[in-house]
Amino acid sequence: MTARVVVVGNAKGGSGKSTAAMHLIVALLRLGHSVAAVDLDLRQGTLRRYLENRRARTDAEGGALPMPGMAAAEDEAGLDALMENLMPRHEVMVIDTPGSDDVLTRHAHAYADAVVTPLNDSFVDLDVLARVDGATLTATGPSHYAEMVWEQRKRRAMRDGGSIDWIVMRNRLTNLDAHNKRAMAELLADLGRRFGFRVVGGFGERVVYRELFLSGLTMMDLHDAGNGALTLSHVAARQEVRTLVEAAAGPGTLIRTA
Ligand SMILES: Nc1ncnc2c1ncn2[C@@H]1O[C@H](COP(=O)(O)OP(=O)(O)OP(=O)(O)O)[C@@H](O)[C@H]1O
Ligand SMILES: [Mg+2]
Repeated sequence: MTARVVVVGNAKGGSGKSTAAMHLIVALLRLGHSVAAVDLDLRQGTLRRYLENRRARTDAEGGALPMPGMAAAEDEAGLDALMENLMPRHEVMVIDTPGSDDVLTRHAHAYADAVVTPLNDSFVDLDVLARVDGATLTATGPSHYAEMVWEQRKRRAMRDGGSIDWIVMRNRLTNLDAHNKRAMAELLADLGRRFGFRVVGGFGERVVYRELFLSGLTMMDLHDAGNGALTLSHVAARQEVRTLVEAAAGPGTLIRTA
């Protein structure tokens, strides 16, 4: 066995990386997979703290919540050792990265089978993928992050001949401003063709994504957590998460139950 490696990255802070990482981890666990979670955001440690909250909750309640293996690395050698140790022992590894470009983040991208980039639905955040000409709404060139992913694709190919599936996921979508939303969708599709990513589904702007952090729960746990009936928003959110999981899992065999 060698794990499928999913790196969640975006050189912009606050785009929803840790939220997406946590939901991916729990959704995959609930599909019966063995998952390792790696938090490379040493300063904030959002994913680590989310999982600690989950551990505390499950301890308090008698251990019903599925938990991933957890690991952290402080430098490139540490990450290499961790990958060598964990890749043969898990089906999936999900690596959360900080919203800034550093050597360790770059190094992690070179391990990726899939890179998931959450993108807030605004032209400000789009800047992380490409330089955009505001007058014509066309891309004038790749951004620093798009170039970085390109570099790591080359490194990955040289190391083991593998390729990186780059997935951009729109986040915090609202029903407001349909015009802007459409313009973003068209621009993103164009950028995807030029810079080699695909755009999948996306998460809506939902309070529930924010509320769950302290309890260590995700949308995928709510059924079992005694929280009563699911609201329509919960059902829609679970579907959003499933769409992301299917994309990140790739065309292989990861999704074995529905
Ligand atoms: N779809 C959503 N709906 C509502 N709130 C969201 C959504 N996605 C993320 N958030 C909130 O946005 C904030 C940033 O999310 P998150 O911490 O996941 O981003 P990040 O990219 O990991 O940030 P950083 O770069 O600082 O690590 C958090 O408060 C989170 O709860
Ligand atoms: Mg984060």
